[in-house]
Amino acid sequence: MSSRKILVTSALPYANAPLHLGHMLEQVQTDIWVRFQRSRGNHCQYVCADDAHGTAIMLSAEKQGVTPQAHIGNIKALHEADSAGFHISFDNYHSTHSPENKAWSETIFQRLEANDHIAVRSVVQAYDEVKGLFLADRFIKGTCPKCKTPDQYGDNCEACGATYSPTEVIDPISALSGSTPVEKASDHLFFKLSAFQELLADWVSGEQLQTPIANKLREWIDAGLQDWDISRDAPYFGFEIPGYPEKYFYVWLDAPIGYIASHQNLCARTGDDFESFWQPGNDTELYHFIGKDIINFHGLFWPAMLASAGLRQPTAIFAHGFLTVDGTKMSKSRGTFIMASTYLDHLDAEYLRYYFAAKLSPNVDDMDLNLEDFIQRVNSDLVGKVVNIASRCSGFLRKRFDNEISTTCSEPAFINELISAGDSIAALYETRDFQRAMREIIALADRANQYIDEKKPWVLAKEEGRDQDVQDACSVGINCFRVLMTYLKPVLPVMGQKSEEFLGLTLNWTDLQGPLEGHKINKFSPLIQRIDPEAVTAMVEASKH
Ligand code: 2FM
Ligand code: ZN
Repeated sequence: MSSRKILVTSALPYANAPLHLGHMLEQVQTDIWVRFQRSRGNHCQYVCADDAHGTAIMLSAEKQGVTPQAHIGNIKALHEADSAGFHISFDNYHSTHSPENKAWSETIFQRLEANDHIAVRSVVQAYDEVKGLFLADRFIKGTCPKCKTPDQYGDNCEACGATYSPTEVIDPISALSGSTPVEKASDHLFFKLSAFQELLADWVSGEQLQTPIANKLREWIDAGLQDWDISRDAPYFGFEIPGYPEKYFYVWLDAPIGYIASHQNLCARTGDDFESFWQPGNDTELYHFIGKDIINFHGLFWPAMLASAGLRQPTAIFAHGFLTVDGTKMSKSRGTFIMASTYLDHLDAEYLRYYFAAKLSPNVDDMDLNLEDFIQRVNSDLVGKVVNIASRCSGFLRKRFDNEISTTCSEPAFINELISAGDSIAALYETRDFQRAMREIIALADRANQYIDEKKPWVLAKEEGRDQDVQDACSVGINCFRVLMTYLKPVLPVMGQKSEEFLGLTLNWTDLQGPLEGHKINKFSPLIQRIDPEAVTAMVEASKH
């Protein structure tokens, strides 16, 4: 099998707040898939970046009295530390506020314009005369036109759930200055999405999308596609549109282009062929992992922009659901709005990586982090089953056999069966059915433990003349452990690395050719501790402040 050339992305986090566990669900899902591809011998690059533009980021910099550049620099450092803490193996983490992204945004825009896919139209919008800013709906507050509750956002009411247009709000005020907004007209640039009706109808009927996502997109397409407003007026933190002074690219225009920019920045370092990757009709693969809330951008605008710009299409888009904690939306008061760094202050990242893997499927259902189940599952599966295999066998090998695995495997059929199970486990990883992959792996761990229970090396060790049997049984146990940790390493990279040191070899899928024989291992040291429930309680407490 020849090596596939794959580029993978996670959604670009906004550069206005540190990451929370919802972000980590996406990055962990992506990272597991990427590490799996690498273990299979594929050339798989994983890029991401901070999504650095927009009014919200401009305003929060202003509030802190720093430049937007300084603000996004600070946040990027926090994001990178959070991701590193969860062992996310980005090949590159860039920023949309980068020279590559500016150049690509301009180039793509100019191609859209040359293809007559850009229109200019006047738009009337609420304007804050005190701040000198056009107001997005969320920056307008007022009384709900339906239930009359005061202090509601310009587009929806938290009291009665109504949605409406900001012009319907009673006594509207600007959330930024408290002044009454006025209506003001200004020219906006539109991307003519309506010109891609046919292309997008084709795209959603292909293999690239999960069924509920394709259905949702088809609904929008069938309803008739609206042109997309891609410009914002100054002042705005972003890139000025070439040929349109004081007009800036809307943050969502240059955000996905950030995938290209980050990839270019990476290739400049590695020497990989960037140009040809983005040409249509080559055999490279491009996958975007995203949350289901941003499928309109990735499933409609992005393929249309790429098509107009003469660039390749994504091979597939992999959407996931939202994260809930203990059955409900993450909440600050309950202590379940958990920041990535708060988690890391209290718990090992690999616990959560495993728990996410044990619950992730290819569908777009929401995923619940149930804290009780989390403790139970990790302690039982990882500590009680997987690590247990190595800890039960390594002591005898060290004390009695100088850490040597038997020169001839006593159960080659059993070990080869575990190796053969790798095909179906790999197929589950490939289709992002991590939940079932983990179930199959843990079922194999059960069989390994059962084997050791039957052989009882601790009993044999006390019997005269059974040395070879003790060594053989423990060697089979270590062989099982090697195969299982190879399958688990995409999920548990640190435990995988410690296992490599213990086993004195590397754990790649491609290296599993048969049982280990006559191999010398190293001293076993604990690979992972049990979760202490008190650490979980402390994390929840810390998340309340
Ligand atoms: O929804 C978000 O958090 C966006 N910052 C995601 C952007 S993904 C891509 F298009 F850049
Ligand atoms: Zn209301």
